[in-house]
Amino acid sequence: MPRSDWLPLHGLDGLLLLSGLDGFLPYGRGSLMLDVVFVTMFVIVPLLMVSVLLVKYRRNYRLHKALQLTMASILLVAVVLFEIDIRVNGWEQRAEPSPYFDLANKWSCLAGRALIVHLSFAVPTLLLWIVVVVQALRKFSRPPTPGPHSQWHARWGTLAAIGMILTGVTGWIFYWLAFVATKAN
Ligand code: HEM
Repeated sequence: MPRSDWLPLHGLDGLLLLSGLDGFLPYGRGSLMLDVVFVTMFVIVPLLMVSVLLVKYRRNYRLHKALQLTMASILLVAVVLFEIDIRVNGWEQRAEPSPYFDLANKWSCLAGRALIVHLSFAVPTLLLWIVVVVQALRKFSRPPTPGPHSQWHARWGTLAAIGMILTGVTGWIFYWLAFVATKAN
């Protein structure tokens, strides 16, 4: 369905007056930053697996560090821009055409519950991610090699990686429920 049909306040060239800039994913009603984060997670999740396998089986600590710092920088920029977008524009108006979203029951409808599940992975994972990166930078030698910090890092790094994968998967589920699924007319 064309975007102008589901949103009453449609401005010029994809600029929604109430909901910010439109995203680019063909079947979604997400905003630009929602779509950017959605796609970013598709890059981060496999990259994260490669990075962990690189240390585990190849002992390539330099590349692991470089990949982790690249991912952390990309995530930081994406999360900050995304937060601004959501705080300024909200997401509810874009979710209204979904059969799984009900504004009157925002947190108890299926899309709302999926968002709560997603946030309960996303927020702790983001904090843990920052701690793991900062501690690794402070406590590993340069260039990075195994040392006294290894055991702590392997334990919490594994948890951060699992958290990031679950953040991605639950985020994609929420995106589909809120911004792809559409009520039958
Ligand atoms: C949030 C970011 C990071 C995550 C999720 C992560 C994850 C992991 C995991 C799961 C392992 C253990 C692999 C195994 O089972 O053997 C590991 C090992 C390692 N990581 Fe990271 N890492 C991160 C950031 C970094 C950074 C920034 C550095 C360097 C400054 C680093 C240096 C190392 C080193 C040297 C090891 C090998 C430890 C050892 O086997 O003794 N990591 N990382």
